[in-house]
Amino acid sequence: MSNFVNQIAFVTGAGSGIGRATALAFSRAGARVVVADINETNGQETTELIQQAGGDAFFVACDVAQPAQIEAAIQQTVAAYGRLDIGINNAGIGGRFGRLLDQTQEDFDQMMAVNVGSVFYGMQYQIRQMLTQDQPGDHPVRGKIVNVSSIAGVRGMPMGAPYSASKHAVLGLTKTVALEYAKQGIRVNAICPVYTHSTMVDDLINKAPGMEDRMRKMIPIGRFGEPDDIAQAILWLCADENAFCTGQAIQLDGGFTAG
Ligand SMILES: NC(=O)c1ccc[n+]([C@@H]2O[C@H](COP(=O)([O-])OP(=O)(O)OC[C@H]3O[C@@H](n4cnc5c(N)ncnc54)[C@H](O)[C@@H]3O)[C@@H](O)[C@H]2O)c1
Repeated sequence: MSNFVNQIAFVTGAGSGIGRATALAFSRAGARVVVADINETNGQETTELIQQAGGDAFFVACDVAQPAQIEAAIQQTVAAYGRLDIGINNAGIGGRFGRLLDQTQEDFDQMMAVNVGSVFYGMQYQIRQMLTQDQPGDHPVRGKIVNVSSIAGVRGMPMGAPYSASKHAVLGLTKTVALEYAKQGIRVNAICPVYTHSTMVDDLINKAPGMEDRMRKMIPIGRFGEPDDIAQAILWLCADENAFCTGQAIQLDGGFTAG
């Protein structure tokens, strides 16, 4: 497993699902972790899980739809740990389940603020900090960012136009910012999971009888993803052994998009 000792990881949406699994995995690999979430109870629970296992973490309450709160969370990270090596922009919402004409302006605006604004402003504040940091020795990498998109970022998703649009936007941001900062030692990648067990996917499963079976049958490997499946790929993307990887969107989908 990669070694993240002496590295500081900031993870949004770390109170649940993929974000929690990622925060725990970074801690197991030696990083100090900032657990950011809008849900204080769940965020504190993730922090306690890390601390009980002997890791170093703290919780910061942060609504990623509010750029000022992201800025404050990054400032708290640096105040506590002195630097930022890894930014994981994971927090997101699934939005209303319905066709285009069922979606409201409020649905669309909220989706863009949470799922796209979080990545745009998250990267702004993360990269601004990373650029102030020395590259260790002649190490080519100054900072690593992973943005959590979705297979709905590479495919259409009927009944979820705002969600699919938001996850396509995450990939546009990832590729563009990777190009803009490649020479300054900042790697930016995205992960595109298929259906993965979490609160978000449970909500989708409960929309209609038989939904879970139908969703599972779409995945060639024959099962949903687990949060730790996604977390392990995020760690791989951030590993310093993986220094040549930037601007990529890894489809972690049990074969879904291969067909
Ligand atoms: N579960 C899946 O099948 C799946 C598939 C593809 C992509 N994703 C993406 O993975 C990411 C994580 O989702 P998950 O499946 O773990 O769901 P989840 O609902 O378990 O976790 C989402 C977390 O984000 C937090 N959050 C929501 N809005 C926030 C806000 N405004 N500010 C700060 N935190 C906020 C929630 O409190 C929660 O802890 C999302 O971006 C989601 O779109 C999930």
